[in-house]
Order: sequence, then structure tokens, then C-alpha cells
Amino acid sequence: MFDLIRPLLFKLQPETAHAISLQLLRLGGLPAFAPLLQGLFSAPQKPVTAFGLTFKNPVGLAAGYDKDARAVNGLAALGFGHVEVGTVTPRPQAGNPLPRVFRLPEDFAVINRMGFPGKGANFVARQLRSNSRQTILGVNLGKNKDTSLEQAAEDYIALMRIFTPLADYLTINISSPNTVGLRRLQGREMLETLLGEIARERNQITLGRGGRTPMLVKIAPDLSDDELQDAVGVILNTGMDGIIATNTTIQREMLQGTHQGETGGLSGRPLRALSDSVLAKVVTLVNGKIPVIGVGGIMTPDDAKKKIDLGATLVQVYTGLVYAGPGLVREIIRR
Ligand code: FNR
Repeated sequence: MFDLIRPLLFKLQPETAHAISLQLLRLGGLPAFAPLLQGLFSAPQKPVTAFGLTFKNPVGLAAGYDKDARAVNGLAALGFGHVEVGTVTPRPQAGNPLPRVFRLPEDFAVINRMGFPGKGANFVARQLRSNSRQTILGVNLGKNKDTSLEQAAEDYIALMRIFTPLADYLTINISSPNTVGLRRLQGREMLETLLGEIARERNQITLGRGGRTPMLVKIAPDLSDDELQDAVGVILNTGMDGIIATNTTIQREMLQGTHQGETGGLSGRPLRALSDSVLAKVVTLVNGKIPVIGVGGIMTPDDAKKKIDLGATLVQVYTGLVYAGPGLVREIIRR
């Protein structure tokens, strides 16, 4: 069915097509329609345990698709074992001027420079409170554009306070290329300060509520080997529970699409090899101490299997859904 709809969606601006898809999924998640969607996309159970959580299968939705948590139940009905909403910022913000998302169909890729547009933490929290949850839910956290790097920890801490009771896990996003300076937080000293403060806050929250929410860190694929070694060292030393590898890349190699010159983060097939190589390095560096989620360029079930073979405990997809459609989730699980 997606083969019929895709040409229509591809005639629209990417953000328009995305808004329509999200709206349909929101409707699809309503009690009247969810069983239909679940029936269409049903897949075998393939349970995986990580960070103390049991996922019904290893395939999740990557952050950025449902930034404001509008369609979690519809997305869950597509079969995802987890859904990561966000990136959520403390205050609402507009993001970059349009157009800011570009398809590169010849490359099976997307370039985006959205810059965390969103309705802000209070709106997302209300969305999450008003729905009973059908799947494991991650909330991906980011700082506002106008928060300085020195004050970034305050943004992340404010978000942790709001989302700890509402999420199964939280992701610290310090790897989006579209918020100026954000990726500098991956440097050793800044990361030590940031994750140190986050770890202290987490201990406070844990003491208060008696449960410990897993904290993951999402990293860029563009770190050098030394930077990667430093970052993973800090992530382990500060007691974080997992690593998501990777976000989009600012590198451009051998692209065909007319939009290849656009600024932003590249995702989809051309990201796969880079993301796989970073995943392999991270798996070696963590040496079994914490799980790693593999994301970047999964367009087929074989791509997902490769990441699991490289040592990923879970995988996530985004751009693959744009090109292969929602049936990709079930295909990966069945593989
Ligand atoms: C993203 N991604 C993303 N990641 C994140 O941590 N926070 C975000 O807000 C977004 N936003 C976003 C928007 C768009 C349009 C795209 C295409 C991607 C990155 C995403 O979660 C994922 O890490 C990469 O896209 C790589 O995976 P795929 O797309 O190659 O499967």
C-alpha cells in the first residue's frame, strides 16, 4: 500500500508530507483505529532486555519523527518496540526558517536542518500524561537555541525533572548539527561537567522517587577516534546507562541528489557505513559495560541485522521509513 501512497507524499514538501503522516498516525492511535493498525503491522515477539527494561522487539523509532509526542500510540501500533519522542527543549521554539528538510531520492537520503522546532516541555508532558502508553517510551532532551553552552546543564536538568516520571528512558542529545555549538558538549571537559551535573541530579531524583530512570547519550558520527574514546570514557565514568550511535552527519560523500549542497545533517543510506563504523568502535570501547543502540542508514532488514551483528542491543530507524514505508519495522523484526 505504501508503494501507492509514496509517490503522492513525495510530490509534497517533506515537512508537509511528514505532518500529514503524523496526523494519520495520531488518528490511527485512537482506540477505534489502533486494533486495525496493530493487525496490519503485527509482528512476532522478539524480546530484548536492556537498561533494566524489556522491549518486545529490538526495533525503535529514532528521535525527530514525533518531536512533540503527538502520535505515540499510532507509532506503537506500527510494531515498534520503543518510540523515542523529541528532541524536546524546555521552552517552545520555532527552529530554522523553511525549507529545512530535503529529500535526496537518488541517494535514499534526507538532509535536515530543523534546529529543534517544538512546542516545548510542558506541551509534550501534557501529551504524554493524557495517553496511556502502549510501548516503551524514550524522551530525547535538548537545550534551547538561546541557552548558552555554559548553562546547557540547567536546560537538561529542567527537562529531567519534568520527564523522569513520564518516560521509560531519557536521551541526552548533544549531537544534533543544527543547534550552533551543541556538538561541542561532546568534548571531554564540557561533557564531564554536563554529565557530572546530570548524574548528580539523577541521584537526587532517584532518592526522591525510589526508581532509577535509564539515561542514554546520543553521539554524532563525526567524532575523531580520540574524541570518541574521550566521550565514551566520560559516559562510562559518569554512570550513564547506554549510548545511541549515531545522529546525522555533516559529511558529504558521493551524493547524487540535487539538494546535496544543503546545510544540515545527512541521514539514510549514505550515513550507513559511517554509522556502522562508529557503532563498532563504540561497542569495542564500552566493552560490554553498557548497551549500545545502533541507528543510521537502516533501509533494509539486512542493514538492521548488520548493526545487531556489530554489537548493537537495539536499533532505531527514521529515514528508512520515508523510503521503505512503515512495513520496514515488521520486516526487520521478522528477519
Ligand atoms: C532527525 N534526527 C534527530 N535526532 C535527534 O536526536 N533529535 C532530533 O530532533 C532529530 N530530528 C531529526 C529530524 C529529521 C528530519 C531527521 C531525518 C533526523 C536524527 C535521527 O534520529 C537519526 O539519528 C538519524 O536520522 C540517522 O538515522 P536514519 O534516519 O538514517 O535511520
